[in-house]
Amino acid sequence: MVEQKAVVTPWEVTGDINYEKLLTQFGLQPLHTDFSHVLFRRKKIFAHRDYQPIAQAIQQKKPFVMMTGLMPTGKFHIGHYILAQQMVLYQKLGAKIYIAVADVEAYSARSQSLEESRTIAIDQYILNYIAMGLQPENCEIYFQSERSTDSAIANQYYQLQNILASHVTFNEFKGAYGEITPGKLTASLLQGADMLQPQLLHPGLPVVVPVGVDQDPHIRLARDIAKRVGLKPFSSTYHVFLPGLKGGKMSSSDPTSFVALTDTPKEIKSKINKYAFSGGRDTVEEHRKLGGNPDIDVSYQWLTFFEEDDAKLADIYNRYKSGELLSGELKAILIEKLTAILSAHQEKRIEAKSRIHEFLYQK
Ligand code: TRP
Repeated sequence: MVEQKAVVTPWEVTGDINYEKLLTQFGLQPLHTDFSHVLFRRKKIFAHRDYQPIAQAIQQKKPFVMMTGLMPTGKFHIGHYILAQQMVLYQKLGAKIYIAVADVEAYSARSQSLEESRTIAIDQYILNYIAMGLQPENCEIYFQSERSTDSAIANQYYQLQNILASHVTFNEFKGAYGEITPGKLTASLLQGADMLQPQLLHPGLPVVVPVGVDQDPHIRLARDIAKRVGLKPFSSTYHVFLPGLKGGKMSSSDPTSFVALTDTPKEIKSKINKYAFSGGRDTVEEHRKLGGNPDIDVSYQWLTFFEEDDAKLADIYNRYKSGELLSGELKAILIEKLTAILSAHQEKRIEAKSRIHEFLYQK
């Protein structure tokens, strides 16, 4: 494969991403924690800004806040699963959880109506979060277009967005995002308010914002403006992207690039068999002789997120590399693993339907 130059911005992610390079390019710190969760242990969450106060709060069992957001477009797929796992994990560790549904952003960046965003956010995202174990206590999910029924909280949020606007220059926007439009500018400031309001609501508590690494321009800018308005730069962590089935980016607008959390066993099997980019050789003889390349094989890459048993994973790696395991067999391992995870998930999703009202007020 010819390496394609990577573009990583909130509005566009293309090309082959070199995460090491991004660390220097964005000025992130590599993240080392002693968490046993696969995402931390395997460095899927690979970088941070100012994580120290969060690590300390967790260690000392002190309260802290986790704030993140979602863009409600398309289907909830296993790439989204990574962020949702972190929400549930942080909540278990005692964090107060804020989740912003970026319906205003979807409107300005994707021309999607607020009604459409609400439906997708509930059907796809929130139901899956509940099924994954998110609890309503200490958890506030809100829409950017409707911050709160409590007017003091809502006013504070929209005021904050406007205050931030007066402390940033147009050139800074251009520097952070490359190209910028009024809609994107508004979305950026609103996301700034998402990330900064928790410290007004919980003075003194550290706040962590876990995101995909494409979101860092938003974070850099919000942290910079924070200092100018007397707020503190919050902490952030960055996860890698789960590669799309065919290699490249996983995209909600391309169903052949992902497995959705609602896909049936039949769909999982046919998608992986048909589309998963293989690091295997062209013929069985060649494969047996030369071995496969797990490092570019999407099925293997996916297993590094979903097979939690390190010994099992190492064994798959070695047997694939030596040529003992064929591509079809590797795919079968992934299919079995994902089918088991998703079947269990889908049962919980059915129960979750009756619990939506515990998380959102009814309109
Ligand atoms: N821009 C984010 C995305 O595209 C969604 C988002 C909105 C967000 N507000 C946020 C993410 C606050 C983190 C924190 O997915």
